[in-house]
Amino acid sequence: MSRKRTAVLISGRGSNMGALISAAMVPAFPAEIALVIANRPDAKGLERAAEFNIATAVVDHKDFSGDREAFERAINDVLKEHKIDLVALAGFMRILTPYLVNAWSGRMINIHPALLPSFKGLATHERALDEGVKLHGATVHFVSAEMDDGPIIIQGAVPVLDHDTPDTLAARVLEIEHKIYPKALELVASGKAKVAGTRVLSDTGQEADTGLIWPQ
Ligand code: GRF
Repeated sequence: MSRKRTAVLISGRGSNMGALISAAMVPAFPAEIALVIANRPDAKGLERAAEFNIATAVVDHKDFSGDREAFERAINDVLKEHKIDLVALAGFMRILTPYLVNAWSGRMINIHPALLPSFKGLATHERALDEGVKLHGATVHFVSAEMDDGPIIIQGAVPVLDHDTPDTLAARVLEIEHKIYPKALELVASGKAKVAGTRVLSDTGQEADTGLIWPQ
């Protein structure tokens, strides 16, 4: 089995990146984390990746004076240089243009800390509490041109408790993020989850058996 060379794109602490690295340490896992790219030189996750001897690169968006496509071309060059097959966005805080989205169509996934299509964008936990939802969670999806949109691969749900604050809720959601992201990468890298229009199908043309994951 050839493992899919996967790049993880981060902006900060990289705990989801860490979960992907841990999962990919198992030899049978269908993806290897071959590269970590950050758009901020001070992204904490870079140190963590280096500790695992994973190649790292910084492509600082500030060097491109607002030219988003030039920034993405630079990222794409690094991805090509490292012969990357799949890209996993993990707390990568840049809105992508159609340039990078189209270049990696069906091969780029993202994790969002909410049960999409609810609560796209930022401050998802605050907004979930404000709306009084009883169920919240996280979603891994293929990346499409719209922000926090695209075919859903897997979702994990957590209950919202009466005394939750944005921080306690975020911590509960983060735990489930660390479970569903490796699972989603496994499904995509093994070819079991593929984009079919607005949905994700398995390689037999049936719905992928991804399901809802609850905390154990
Ligand atoms: C996660 O909650 C992720 O869902 C969101 O940003 C956060 C990144 O956390 N997109 P980390 O850097 O993976 O720890």
